[in-house]
Amino acid sequence: MEYGSDFHWIEPNQELVSNCISKNPYTLFGIGRFAIGSLISQMVKEAGWKRIWMPSYFCPLITAYIKSLISVSSYPIIPGKEIKVSDLLIKQGEVLFVNNLFGINQKPDYSVYQGKITVIEDHTHDPYSDWSCTSQADWCFASLRKTIPLPDGGVLWSPAGHTLPDAPDLTIEHRLSSLSKFSAMLAKERYLNGKIILKQLIRDLFISGENGYNNASENSGISAISRHSWNHFPVQKWRTVRKHNYHYLARLLKKLDGLEIFCNNHIKNVVPFSVVILLKDSKSRDSIRKTLISKNIYPSVLWDLAEDEHNLPENIKFSQRMLSIHCDMRYSRRDMDYIYEQIKSALTKM
Ligand SMILES: Cc1ncc(COP(=O)(O)O)c(C=O)c1O
Repeated sequence: MEYGSDFHWIEPNQELVSNCISKNPYTLFGIGRFAIGSLISQMVKEAGWKRIWMPSYFCPLITAYIKSLISVSSYPIIPGKEIKVSDLLIKQGEVLFVNNLFGINQKPDYSVYQGKITVIEDHTHDPYSDWSCTSQADWCFASLRKTIPLPDGGVLWSPAGHTLPDAPDLTIEHRLSSLSKFSAMLAKERYLNGKIILKQLIRDLFISGENGYNNASENSGISAISRHSWNHFPVQKWRTVRKHNYHYLARLLKKLDGLEIFCNNHIKNVVPFSVVILLKDSKSRDSIRKTLISKNIYPSVLWDLAEDEHNLPENIKFSQRMLSIHCDMRYSRRDMDYIYEQIKSALTKM
């Protein structure tokens, strides 16, 4: 068994599973970045967009990508705290980017800006949350492979009913990267079922696909595999499993000294993306992570922020102390028990 890291391939259902995104017009892209990138590039050209406000706590790779398209201002976000945008000095015509970080936030109050600014919401960490399904933002997008077992995919939709950019063609470059990911997912599925496949091969295929996405020279459409599968999965059922696993593991971990459960007092109806734990400092975090990896548990760091003046000191601290533990539909309570035991034992070895 393996805990965390990329999804293995899970066979989609024959039938379409209706969901709140696909009920309305949407456009599919190769990855989340191509969705937001295509929108920004088009609106810079056609609507004169000049500035986008990005949360201070966000994936540096994606912020850098957006900076290559438009001027970026940063606004402060403290993970786990309410997203407050009302006192920002956003000018008429500017764009506000809001992220539902770890799927635990509620829709912010945008009322002071009514009709004056454009709002884009990122629902990657829980595409089918209540917030996402009732959004009134100008545009919303989500990267699909973070919560659904797909090799690629990004979806863009507009609750406000604005025009959507056309889907770009599927490039050869993206076809190769997504095929590398897909092969990795198939190989991982076989590996988990006891077939003898080199773990390093699976890892190399995942990395090669992800590097392909990170170094893409142009935006692409989605792969055929993901296009035909993305709305054939029982996503609401999976959200319920994730929610139960979350609460089960968080309750166990709460008993331990030496770590904090990040934001355990969730608003009703939110389904966290993962169980985020905070260790004393970066040294303890790295040591726990190393021990967990040796036990086949692969937590992520979301995200690794540079220790420089561009990042808020409290955001850097959070980034250095955090580990995101997967608790999604791949896992049962027994798996959560295993993860708990391993974290407990890793803490005693420190
Ligand atoms: C919250 C969030 N938004 C957007 C993205 C961008 O998605 P993609 O990697 O599909 O471009 C990511 C990717 O890590 C993400 O974590």
